[in-house]
Amino acid sequence: MKNSQKLQIFLSHNDECSRRAAMDLIKEGMVTVNDQLVTEPSIQIDPQKDKVFINGKRIKQKQYEYIMLNKPSGYVTTKADPHASKTVYQLLPKKYHFLAPVGRLDKDTEGLLILTNDGDVTQKLTHPRYKSDKNYYVKVRNRLEIKERLKIENGVFLDGRKTAKAKIKVIRMKRDFTECLITIREGRKRQVRRMFAAVKHKVTFLKRVSQGPLVLGSLKTGAWRNLNEKEKKQLLQL
Ligand code: URA
Repeated sequence: MKNSQKLQIFLSHNDECSRRAAMDLIKEGMVTVNDQLVTEPSIQIDPQKDKVFINGKRIKQKQYEYIMLNKPSGYVTTKADPHASKTVYQLLPKKYHFLAPVGRLDKDTEGLLILTNDGDVTQKLTHPRYKSDKNYYVKVRNRLEIKERLKIENGVFLDGRKTAKAKIKVIRMKRDFTECLITIREGRKRQVRRMFAAVKHKVTFLKRVSQGPLVLGSLKTGAWRNLNEKEKKQLLQL
């Protein structure tokens, strides 16, 4: 996969130190690559082939794991919620309990939840700076009028701050409900529910169907799977 990486980045990921600390270690002459002392933090190394040592301790590349879960309603995404009766970790084998969710889903929200130990990928999928789309299927009470849709799309104020532009595609509209797909690029607390609440519509069903390049597809509710090679490649290209 990732077959070339800056030495400094490799160390900060795999020795779990800050980039600054990694740079200092390198500049102070503590690091060797294939038995050669290296003092330049930005040299490129091959994490799978090159042998990197700090003060004689071998630093191996961490294995990254990426899984997707179709989260059912009623499960919380945090590990350490003492009040939660059900957490998503109960749906995963023990060997994956060290993985962290990529962004949150509310207890009452369903759908795509990525879990990984790759902090870079988490950052790229969740930080608004990277403009990664998230798509949600939403069912709300009553008809969503055009001006309400435009208001949400152009941004509503949540906690005194306007939401970024969003896109809504109405799938079905009846007198007492509307089904739509909404695309957002942020991940604020209960964002979709509160965006619709801002135009007086209660969300009655919410499901994340995609995040960045990853699509939930036909994965059954409550089921998980490892990402395939194509999906992992897409993540590394973000
Ligand atoms: N928006 C919400 O309101 N809830 C979620 O879980 C995700 C997005």
